[in-house]
Amino acid sequence: RVLDAEGNVLVPGIVDCHIHNREPGLEYKEDWESATRAAAAGGVTTVVGMPNTDPVIDSPANLELKFERGEASAHVDFQSYAVVTSENLDLIPDIDEVGPLGFKVFLGSTVGDVPPPNDGEILEAMEKIRETGKRLGFHEENGEIIDHYTERFKAEGRNEPIDHSRSRPVIAEREAVERMITFAEETGARIHMFHVSSGSAAEAVGRGKNRGVDVTAETTPHYLWFTEDVMREKGNVARVQPPIRDAAEHDRLWEVGIDDDAIDCIATDHAPHTPAEKKVDDPFGNTWDAISGFVGLETEVPAMLTFVDQGRLSLEEWVRRHSTRPAQVWGMYPQKGSVQVGTDADFTIVDPNLEWTLEDRGELHSKNCVTPFGGESFTGKAIATVVRGQVVYEDGDVIGESGYGTRVDVD
Ligand code: DOR
Ligand code: ZN
Ligand code: ZN
Repeated sequence: RVLDAEGNVLVPGIVDCHIHNREPGLEYKEDWESATRAAAAGGVTTVVGMPNTDPVIDSPANLELKFERGEASAHVDFQSYAVVTSENLDLIPDIDEVGPLGFKVFLGSTVGDVPPPNDGEILEAMEKIRETGKRLGFHEENGEIIDHYTERFKAEGRNEPIDHSRSRPVIAEREAVERMITFAEETGARIHMFHVSSGSAAEAVGRGKNRGVDVTAETTPHYLWFTEDVMREKGNVARVQPPIRDAAEHDRLWEVGIDDDAIDCIATDHAPHTPAEKKVDDPFGNTWDAISGFVGLETEVPAMLTFVDQGRLSLEEWVRRHSTRPAQVWGMYPQKGSVQVGTDADFTIVDPNLEWTLEDRGELHSKNCVTPFGGESFTGKAIATVVRGQVVYEDGDVIGESGYGTRVDVD
């Protein structure tokens, strides 16, 4: 089979180490098949699923179940994190045997029922995970600070979603990043900060790196694309945890995170929910129960290519953060994150000049397609996706077979 890439750019397969594929248990939102179909269509060759499913991925058996479901239906290659809660510290070695990509701790409450460990338990988890050689990533928001401001804002009758970035303030993120870096310095654990949303948190990551802590970090296209003005324009649709920040924090995220290199990886935090859960019919209702998160697998490559087109980062700097570095950070390199010459290469062909606008929902491959990127215009798109030598997406059609995707072996 010959793919004509003339006039386009061939890059190593894009690696997205942060998606919520929702299977097992929340298939009404998304499943492995639909998430990896969206990945293929978005130019993404490897995805890593988050553990806040039902059941949560907190035991060897649940991780095995997640892998089995992926083997049965994925279009692209995949992996999964296992969660560490206050209840499964003793299981860490056994979970590791099953072969997760790494571990995740949710600090404070999040979508799903995941009891956060306390500080002592986090230190213990870091020691145990250090012994596995794997990395521990965080949903890095201090839950006590968030609960405090949420209660206060509710009592004051302040408006959600407009004030979302202040009811989940930057201090909650920055404090958690600094505390986890301090813990890692003490324990020697390798740690990662998922979805860094603010310049202040990126600065904290940079300080940790300067002190020699093995801390890596990720941000998402939505924090780089939008400022909190999007809450006034699109309301609950753009609600996400951590929130989209004000212009000062956004600009600082670009300066410190991208220009000064505190941020290693780009990932989506692809988090599908139904339109009813997102309260799309009442986007500005003063509700506190509109759910957080939105899809991103089919807009991440276009958003990053648009930044490249605008001269905000080079093509090489983009590919490094969206393929090579994530593969290195999580131990998948050079299996993933590099173009190997031969039949088993993963690569993505992009048209960096294609101008297009995303309609508001409907034309994406996920089960639920609510996203604040609806109505946004891009310069650039993935036009073909190749996983281990097989074309899984070409010119608008997902042509690979469900079940072709396989677990990336990291042991
Ligand atoms: O906005 C979010 N949605 N943040 C998270 O941490 C979880 C995610 C989800 O699972 O929907
Ligand atoms: Zn998270
Ligand atoms: Zn997430």
